[in-house]
Amino acid sequence: MKLWGGRFSKNTDSEVNDFNSSIRFDQRMYRQDILGSIAHAKMLGKCNIIPKEDSELIVKTLREILSDIESGKVEFMIDAEDIHMNIETILTKRIGNAGKRLHTGRSRNDQVALDVRMYIKDEIVEIKEMLVSLEKSLLKLASENLDTIMPGYTHLQKAQPITLAHHTLAYFEMFKRDIERLEDTYKRTDVMPLGSGALAGTTYPLDREFVKEELGFSKITQNSLDGVSDRDFVIELASCLSIIIMHLSRYSEELILWNTNEFQFIEMDDGCSTGSSIMPQKKNPDVAELIRGKTGRVYGDLMSILTTMKGIPLAYNKDMQEDKECIFDAIDTIKLCVSVFEKMITTMKINKERMFDGAGGGFTNATDAADYLVKKGMPFRQAHEVVGKMVAYALDAGKALSDFTMDEFKNCSDVIEDDIYDAISLYTCVNERNIVGGPAKEACKKAIEKGEEFIGSLC
Ligand code: ARG
Repeated sequence: MKLWGGRFSKNTDSEVNDFNSSIRFDQRMYRQDILGSIAHAKMLGKCNIIPKEDSELIVKTLREILSDIESGKVEFMIDAEDIHMNIETILTKRIGNAGKRLHTGRSRNDQVALDVRMYIKDEIVEIKEMLVSLEKSLLKLASENLDTIMPGYTHLQKAQPITLAHHTLAYFEMFKRDIERLEDTYKRTDVMPLGSGALAGTTYPLDREFVKEELGFSKITQNSLDGVSDRDFVIELASCLSIIIMHLSRYSEELILWNTNEFQFIEMDDGCSTGSSIMPQKKNPDVAELIRGKTGRVYGDLMSILTTMKGIPLAYNKDMQEDKECIFDAIDTIKLCVSVFEKMITTMKINKERMFDGAGGGFTNATDAADYLVKKGMPFRQAHEVVGKMVAYALDAGKALSDFTMDEFKNCSDVIEDDIYDAISLYTCVNERNIVGGPAKEACKKAIEKGEEFIGSLC
């Protein structure tokens, strides 16, 4: 019989039973469910709401059930609907009446809210650690490539020279914000909802603060309706994960381009590539493509939870059971992606010559040529025009600005002198941009130091 079967005269239809049951996916919260119940049972005993012996027996048996689950000795039942009732059913089978006292002053509505919060807190910590590891790899890649000059792009057209360190540090900043966002979400998840009951609290004198302390929460929820029906924290995490995978996807897209025969800026390691079943020469960047592809899936999870929540009247409604598969999927996907992404970028080969040659074409030093004229006293708008004409001439003549003879330069402007060659060399273009956040070696070194400080402040 169902734990709630008292008022029913007929069994649940078997298809409805399957439809309603969430044990298939919520069994992964067994640990959180048991730890939550242990804290609740201890509190019930301490406050004399149930006999002390019963409280102790419940706690002891729940610990045994936890270890039995972990050693694979427990089989969950679809009939017991969800993880909460599965555990309670097992407990009651083992200790009878004492087990039946566990649910005093509690509802599955505040119980599930608690479990999901605890589960998400644990996952945030894990995902954060994975991002920290990725960040360390990015700092290493940056410090090895302070002098690796490459073209920077706007509109995917060559724009100005940068270094690979500078480019890598851009992603470091993005993942840094992702880490901060996760920390922020953690704060709002770290609130203990037990005591909210089904929706209207409870008449038992529960010690909510005690349960909060037992479970390591920082706060307790302040409104029982909100306590059982808030899933903002799930949506917040799904948003954070969507932003993380958006960053991974942009980065992947760049690496896919760089790995092409046309670019040849990098070569993916064989261990992170796959072949074609028909074309023997192929080596495809499947890892990067799959990460890009899985982005849609994580956004889908976010959209799904947002849409599920948008029209639900207070307080609990069964619709909310739908939050779990989405957030679990988003969490699993992110963890897989961050892990393989880090493997991919730490094993890829950097082709420094190709990057340098790439930086040389496409007049990436044209802005510096204009800045040179400005330093010689010409107004910037006029300098822009003069260099524009230089580029048009160079395109006709099939040469780069640095290949101009002095006569050719003089024909463009008589303020130009011999020092132009140094002023528009790629090294000068990069290293003169020694401004906070710029590509110069000195600026990137400082950014790496700051990055290391940030990582240090987390651990
Ligand atoms: N399995 C349910 C969920 O995930 C637990 C809460 C059930 N509460 C209820 N009143 N039916 O949301």
